[in-house]
Amino acid sequence: MFQTVVNLKTYSESMGQNTVSLLRKLRNEKSSPSLKIAVPVTRVHLGKEFENLISQHVDSVSFGAHTGHILMEDLISFGIKGSLLNHSEKRIPKPIIKSTIAKAAELDFNLIICSKDLDETKEICQMGATVVAYEPPELIGGDISVAISKPHIIEQAVEICQSYGARLLVGAGIKTKKDVEISRELGASGILVSSGVVKAKDPFYALNSLMI
Ligand code: G3P
Repeated sequence: MFQTVVNLKTYSESMGQNTVSLLRKLRNEKSSPSLKIAVPVTRVHLGKEFENLISQHVDSVSFGAHTGHILMEDLISFGIKGSLLNHSEKRIPKPIIKSTIAKAAELDFNLIICSKDLDETKEICQMGATVVAYEPPELIGGDISVAISKPHIIEQAVEICQSYGARLLVGAGIKTKKDVEISRELGASGILVSSGVVKAKDPFYALNSLMI
């Protein structure tokens, strides 16, 4: 199953009163189970109302004195069973990635761990990641997609992931069905997209046109 992950980031279109109305717009018959939506951490309580949400970040700590941290246990209590980690806009030190992967495995929690290049893809796979999302930082938020700009890197990243039994998602600049089809042809298992949906005039239409 080819996966579509929409990252709501913290755009004005997805914050405040807009979160729920955007999530309602993105709800459709194609939704489940290939669609996941990464909500801001202040909106994870919506996991009780919407089935397909993941968090944009999670920490590795458990219950205790950890001011400001986001617990997997707490996300799970809201029905959130997965999270992005190490996004280019929220980078995490490697030892923390490693301990978060170990904890996620114990709790059956699904991490999508972002990588910025091939070296990091390999490093993250070696830590035991099951899903890696390759996103070249310089293409994030732009109009030239990773699929058009870095096809050879995607192929190599797929190979690396496969050799560790992991799946590769690709993201950055994805705006068209063609971007998605190329990504799939190159061996990716899914896409990670944000502005192409969240900032589109019609997010429902934009999302549908990307789902294959
Ligand atoms: O997490 C998705 C992301 O960083 C890509 O953003 O706006 O280029 O689709 P965008």
